[in-house]
Amino acid sequence: MNVHDSEQMAALLAPVGYKMTDNLKLADLILLNTCSIREKAAHKVYSKLGRISKLKEQNPELIIGVGGCLAQQLGTKFHKKVGHLDFVFGTHNIYRLPQLIATIKKKRGKITEVDFHKSLNSIGVFAPPQGGAISAFVTIMQGCNNFCAYCVVPYLRGPEMSRPPEDIIEEIKKLADCGIREVTLLGQNVNSYGKTLGNGLNFASLIKKIGKISGIKRIRFTTSHPRDLSYGLINCFAEEEKLCEHIHLPVQSGSNRILALMNRGYTVEEYMQKVDHLRKIRPLISITSDIIVGFPGETQNDYQETIDMMEKIRFDSVFSFKYSERKGTAAQKLEGKVEECEKLRRLEQLQMLQDQHTLEKNTAMESSKQELLVEGKSKNSENDLMGRTSSWRIVNFKGELELIGKLVDVKISKAYLHSLRGKLIKEVGNVN
Ligand code: 5AD
Ligand code: SF4
Repeated sequence: MNVHDSEQMAALLAPVGYKMTDNLKLADLILLNTCSIREKAAHKVYSKLGRISKLKEQNPELIIGVGGCLAQQLGTKFHKKVGHLDFVFGTHNIYRLPQLIATIKKKRGKITEVDFHKSLNSIGVFAPPQGGAISAFVTIMQGCNNFCAYCVVPYLRGPEMSRPPEDIIEEIKKLADCGIREVTLLGQNVNSYGKTLGNGLNFASLIKKIGKISGIKRIRFTTSHPRDLSYGLINCFAEEEKLCEHIHLPVQSGSNRILALMNRGYTVEEYMQKVDHLRKIRPLISITSDIIVGFPGETQNDYQETIDMMEKIRFDSVFSFKYSERKGTAAQKLEGKVEECEKLRRLEQLQMLQDQHTLEKNTAMESSKQELLVEGKSKNSENDLMGRTSSWRIVNFKGELELIGKLVDVKISKAYLHSLRGKLIKEVGNVN
């Protein structure tokens, strides 16, 4: 989500003359797009701002702005914490960037804009694909109404609002015309897409509409809330062939007691039933998840239940986090805080187990034939290309540069923890 927000910022600033640079020293404008989902992310922002502030001592004309969740949270307080800031803009105010910068250029001073809007101002900004990209993000909704007990997002991104389907379709058609072949539909809880539109359209019907757009070969989405994952949507994995065989379905915990404290609205049993159904509909579907350890009140027994659930489900991969207390959330007031060292112990043990499962899943793909969308050169070797399977695994293989942007078939020769090695069989389709 944040990556796409940054793409939209760049798209808004291009018409007023700003170009991206990798060299901070050359920049006339530095924008920091911040995250505050966990404390660590917020700390990183302060240390980065400390370094950037030094550039302003050398170049007083430099404009420094901060956006995103941390900016939304702190508002004017950000100026007090970081003296060199020119402006602070919130999650609903991205579209105002050109005006904010023009104001600062005209009359130096400190600006803060963090008001929430009742309309979808920022998410419709079209970000043209850069540097031959073949995959793009498309925001289909903003905000979240779920208020999971640990999470700041509903406070910082506002209430859930779905984007009208016509706007989404138009944007995807434009992206397809620019060479995009794969779209990832973005929202905090894409499964509740349509609820605020009041026209009966739901996420499954949106996917089917997108499936009809020519040029688009692959559709992905993130993130799904397990409570709202409907059987209609699960059936899309059988009915819509462009829908990739991957779902990111954050479970957060394997203990029903902790799930209730987290206000997640489902039980482990309900979650597992949906996983079973997904696997019945699309046997090879890759299921990835998010898990938090050390939520307040999580006992060794609750933690063990998470481990037991992982053993039963065997996720393809998991993003796991130590619980991080966030100001203003319901969990902040809960008793039974878990010691940092205990959280770390649980996290490391869980990650070791998940690594075993990930490797096991990857190894099961050896000798199989996989269709890849070739994204570009491999990071590992100058002579290799990199593509992704429908299940979102990275595959490195030998091939000519002209295959970039195309669908190819490979045979998997070797599995590693974070990637696979493949051998080109044949090109499936020139999708240009
Ligand atoms: N502490 C730790 N992890 C968190 N997440 C969200 N809020 C917190 C928090 N306060 C994790 C959840 C979510 C992912 C994006 O970040 O697992 O799914
Ligand atoms: Fe946060 Fe829960 Fe909303 Fe996800 S669904 S953004 S975890 S409140």
